[in-house]
Amino acid sequence: MTIEAWKRVRRGTAMLALALAASLGAAAAETPLERGRYLVETIAACGNCHTPKGPDGPLPGKALAGNWVVEDIPPFRAVASNITPDRATGIGGWTDAQIGRAIREGIRPDGSVIGPPMPIGLYRGLSDDDLAAMVAYLRSVPAVSSVSEKSTYRIPLPPSYGPPVGRVAAPPRADAVAYGAYLAGPVAHCTECHTPMLEGGRRDTTKLGAGGQAFAGPWGSAVAANLTSSRTSGLGAWTDAEIERAIRTGISRDGRRLHPPMAFAEYRDIAPPDMAALIAFLRSLPPVER
Ligand code: HEC
Ligand code: HEC
Repeated sequence: MTIEAWKRVRRGTAMLALALAASLGAAAAETPLERGRYLVETIAACGNCHTPKGPDGPLPGKALAGNWVVEDIPPFRAVASNITPDRATGIGGWTDAQIGRAIREGIRPDGSVIGPPMPIGLYRGLSDDDLAAMVAYLRSVPAVSSVSEKSTYRIPLPPSYGPPVGRVAAPPRADAVAYGAYLAGPVAHCTECHTPMLEGGRRDTTKLGAGGQAFAGPWGSAVAANLTSSRTSGLGAWTDAEIERAIRTGISRDGRRLHPPMAFAEYRDIAPPDMAALIAFLRSLPPVER
């Protein structure tokens, strides 16, 4: 190698190091509270279940105040709880650890188990940092006094969703597919809705992202789409921009307006690097025909 070529490599490495430092700096500049707000309000979209809605969208002054019927089907009538810091009707009397355990393990301070469809199985994979950020943000939202109807489960709830979780680290953001899998699973639970169910309510993880579950509501019935790389029934033939538009705005490739319950209003503000990671992950899903 000539000295000039070697200098070029050195310069390149130095610039890479600078760029890396800048991006780490940007990540570090986000406080836990800001991170928590982004997670809860945007990509995890907790309000899609926990904020009551009227014909014109979320009810004013009721953000995260619950008493919203998420699903009313033969096995259960699930009513989302008030997760604002109101002490009497919300979670204001819980410690940070108790709130964290409820989100990630589905166990309340009194030992009772949180029922479906809150995606606890996936939330078990939330990183310690993201969980702490969510808790910090939930503590900061306005307390709303609102009593939630109790959910009715006509199926037995599990005694727990598994052993205590312990410590969890998120995959490195530089690994777009792995980080995208983390976002599409534990954070945004895309795979919860978009993976077909087996008998008995377990998900068929051999068909991750292949869609097929039907969601009924005032809009009729919407069947979760196939997000695998199948060119015929999945997203294999879509451009990145078409996938991004569908996620952010709820407009499908052919211009059709997509139905709820996907959280388009929240997903509109997903950070561009997170969107890129989500798309990289979807592109990595082996094609499944449906
Ligand atoms: C798919 C709908 C859904 C999503 C998404 C969801 N939840 Fe829930 N959540 C529920 C339902 C329904 C309940 C009540 C279940 C029951 O009655 O056992 C609940 C219960 C809870 C509880 C227990 C509160 C109490 O007083 O019992 C907490 C805490 C909670 N959710 C936090 C969150 C957070 C934070 C998020 C976002 C990261 C979230 N949830 C996302 C549906 C959802
Ligand atoms: C609560 C369930 C739910 C969640 C969570 C969810 N989706 Fe969806 N998604 C649906 C349903 C149902 C449809 C089909 C709607 C229709 O056809 O009207 C859909 C449609 C789509 C489409 C459009 C496909 C097409 O053929 O038009 C894309 C892309 C998509 N989802 C990606 C995602 C991604 C990425 C995430 C996570 C960030 C996600 N979804 C989270 C239920 C969900």
